[in-house]
Amino acid sequence: MSAYASNSLDWWRSAVVYQIYPRSFADGNGDGIGDLRGIIDHLAHIAGLGADAIWISPWYPSPQADGGYDVADYRAINPDYGTLAEADELVAAAHRRGLRVLIDLVPNHSSDEHRWFRDALAAAPGSPERSRYIFRDGRGEHGELPPNNWQGQFGGPAWTRVPDGQWYLHLFDVRQPDWNWENPEVAAEFDDVLRFWFDRGIDGFRVDVADSMAKDQTLPDLPTDRAGAVRMDKYVGHPSWDRPELERIHRRWRAIADEYTDSPQGPRVFVSEAYLTPAARLARYVEPGRLHTTFNFDYLLAEWSAQSLRHVIDQARAAHAGLGAPCTWVLGNHDQERIATRLGRSRTGRRFTADGVATEEIGVHDDWFKQFPLDPELGQRRARAAALLELALPGGAYVYQGEELGLPEVLDLPEDALRDPTWERSGHRMRGRDGCRVPIPWTAEPGYGWGQPTWLPQPADWAGFSVEEQDGDISGFLELYRAALSYRRGLAALGDGDLTWLDAGENVLAFTREPGFTCIVNFGEQPVRLPAGEVLLASAHLRGGTLGPDEAAWIER
Ligand code: GLC
Ligand code: CA
Repeated sequence: MSAYASNSLDWWRSAVVYQIYPRSFADGNGDGIGDLRGIIDHLAHIAGLGADAIWISPWYPSPQADGGYDVADYRAINPDYGTLAEADELVAAAHRRGLRVLIDLVPNHSSDEHRWFRDALAAAPGSPERSRYIFRDGRGEHGELPPNNWQGQFGGPAWTRVPDGQWYLHLFDVRQPDWNWENPEVAAEFDDVLRFWFDRGIDGFRVDVADSMAKDQTLPDLPTDRAGAVRMDKYVGHPSWDRPELERIHRRWRAIADEYTDSPQGPRVFVSEAYLTPAARLARYVEPGRLHTTFNFDYLLAEWSAQSLRHVIDQARAAHAGLGAPCTWVLGNHDQERIATRLGRSRTGRRFTADGVATEEIGVHDDWFKQFPLDPELGQRRARAAALLELALPGGAYVYQGEELGLPEVLDLPEDALRDPTWERSGHRMRGRDGCRVPIPWTAEPGYGWGQPTWLPQPADWAGFSVEEQDGDISGFLELYRAALSYRRGLAALGDGDLTWLDAGENVLAFTREPGFTCIVNFGEQPVRLPAGEVLLASAHLRGGTLGPDEAAWIER
């Protein structure tokens, strides 16, 4: 246990978790695709940053119809990335460096190349093989119409017809058939998958779309507007999102994780991925006996303003208070435009008003932000301040690979390079999520430490963002993150706990945490005076005891 930087059994309550998107993290064998050897070779970067854990996005065999979230085998490693033996080596190497390891559980759907889906296609309608997925007859005289009007998240109908005339449900891509969680065989299979990885030393799982496995068994149509457009939000009572039956599934997984609590390695944990608002809906996922933590995506999606962020932070604190679960903050991931770009726009996200209602509806995979003018330098300045705010909040925090380098979104990937199904399924209207998934730069020379060509092309001007260039540059992003995470480890006030707001003006967020810590962020256009105390860390070079626009500081009182 002593190898772990945060040594307690409660490490997950205040952990900083570094998200690895394996295809784009580091290339160990020079084929232009990230892999496990690359991760093993670069664990020093993550440990040196001061993270407590890593979460690795799906590393399983997959035809990559949805960037690995289409899993063909839940108990193996994608051969492009390495072997199960290397996965074991990775876990051991991470543990030696004091890093816990979370991996991705994708329980709503498999790949169409999963053996059980192939069996289902080969078997007859009504067979046990088909009942592992959600097959139905169609509507219309000859069953030629889909069973209902549900739409896939990437566009197009959520049903696809197979040659014998039946239809199967896929809430996401056509190549991601939804599992039938009413079938005990499916539930038992996932029990076994959890044990398989826990037994190999995995510390926990990030649960992909943790709000989607349960469906209203009558599969009713969704409401439509006057123009016939299907309602796409996750309203209360929705037939496929956030259903009460999910609780049974979450509790079942928690019971399995809890079997490992007394192992020398300590508790195994879950973080839920569910885009639900407001936080009160989300908090149910972390009730005692369910999942441990849940990403707060209102925070990620909120506009850059003191009012909106304060509302979101307060809602999350209120919803979590009394449940015993810590809040979990996140600025980006492999599905969202990178924060250094998003915050450089004239519109930066959702507005949250006093009662917590978002006035701008933004879909998860929307390009909504992208129509607004962009100032890259403003984005960089705000992203630095955003990092200090996130890392000072009570609870756990996630850092998406490249965030610590200030990487921008790649907005000009050539169309023929795009891989996200959003691009095809939206009829080339939405480019999708590839721009945040470009392989990250390690070295300054061309190729940035990757075999060429990389699976998504890297911009020609990324040398300055590389780890090599930023190492030791105290005005750079990397050293800001290193300093912040080092303080987070050293200061008792940071991590789990609570905060007290200071009254610092309309466009300022300032709060104290005990003992002796103040965080202040200036969202306004005028400089503001710094609170009393010694500045530990600032997102910019401070002048004359004031904090400039879009700057943040950590202060010791
Ligand atoms: C989650 C993943 C996303 C994926 C989707 C379907 O939202 O983060 O990348 O496309 O689930 O699995
Ligand atoms: Ca490789």
